[in-house]
Amino acid sequence: MTPLLELDHVTRRFPLGRRQAVHAVEDVSLRLDPGETLAVVGESGCGKSTVARLAVGLIAPTRGTVRIGGTPTSTRMDRATRRHVQFVSQNPWSALNPRKTIGHSVGQPLAVHGLCPSRAERAARVAELLEQVGLPAHYAARRPSGVSGGELQRVTVARALAARPRAIVLDEPTASLDVGVKATVINLLLDLRASLGLSYVLITHELDIARHLATRIAVMYLGRIVEQGPAEQVFTAPRHPYTRMLLAAVPVPDPARRGLVALTGEVPSAVHPPPGCAFHPRCPYVADGCRERVPPLLAVGDRPSDRHSACLRDGEIPVIPVQA
Ligand SMILES: Nc1ncnc2c1ncn2[C@@H]1O[C@H](COP(=O)(O)OP(=O)(O)OP(=O)(O)O)[C@@H](O)[C@H]1O
Ligand SMILES: [Mg+2]
Repeated sequence: MTPLLELDHVTRRFPLGRRQAVHAVEDVSLRLDPGETLAVVGESGCGKSTVARLAVGLIAPTRGTVRIGGTPTSTRMDRATRRHVQFVSQNPWSALNPRKTIGHSVGQPLAVHGLCPSRAERAARVAELLEQVGLPAHYAARRPSGVSGGELQRVTVARALAARPRAIVLDEPTASLDVGVKATVINLLLDLRASLGLSYVLITHELDIARHLATRIAVMYLGRIVEQGPAEQVFTAPRHPYTRMLLAAVPVPDPARRGLVALTGEVPSAVHPPPGCAFHPRCPYVADGCRERVPPLLAVGDRPSDRHSACLRDGEIPVIPVQA
């Protein structure tokens, strides 16, 4: 099966002066198959948004290849392929032009992709898209300043849907919203996934949201994926020491999490990442070898599965099951 979206050993560095660079994303490989929701989780600054921007072609990799429907994004892609993966950014306020009406913003991809040539068709489709995200059609005449935060995030989802994508990359789609509004946007994403057969890459630092939506999880630490696998398995039996800490840090009074070590220490600099395993300065299981080489992301576990972990001591450290 051709993946909808694929990152193949992708690295992205941001130059910092002449000699230094931010190691934002290092050797990341990911794939999104039809019907999946892949959550990318990790602490602030670990490279999640950079992965999102690479995935939709907003920035180019320093090394490696991004493919949409099997076609590398580095070549001159035809628009029909590129529109299959759309983007909803972390900040709805900066994503929309404050001077243009919501109808204009939602209709723009229709014009760009030549989907609705006539004005009348475009207006009808914009009304339909707004209704699809639970907004009244007359919102098309408003400007972003005239609607609430939750409504604005719905507008950005409507705009992403305009291109009739097969997948949407959602960067922290609920991070800027109040708790009550969050739930309604999550329900909208669930409804759209079911009714339109969409796949998602869900970038989030909120693990409860990842747990609610994801079929697969990739855990990032300082630019690298340290654990990846079916969501249920990663949440109930985290293998990598960092995943264990991340799950323990979720503020839920859960006695089943007693065996987990709480998240301590600071994330090191992405300009000078620690040698070897970047997590070793914070890891309670650190051994000498961890300081020397970067652990490869390898298939783990007894059952054949899509489960991977990047820890030199995997297998030595007992896996502590966490109750769902
Ligand atoms: N355009 C840029 N120029 C320089 N450094 C950048 C740029 N974009 C991101 N970075 C750096 O790359 C690293 C990863 O940033 P990124 O925004 O991808 O993290 P994130 O996981 O999305 O964080 P958050 O949870 O805070 O949104 C950070 O150290 C960040 O400062
Ligand atoms: Mg981000």
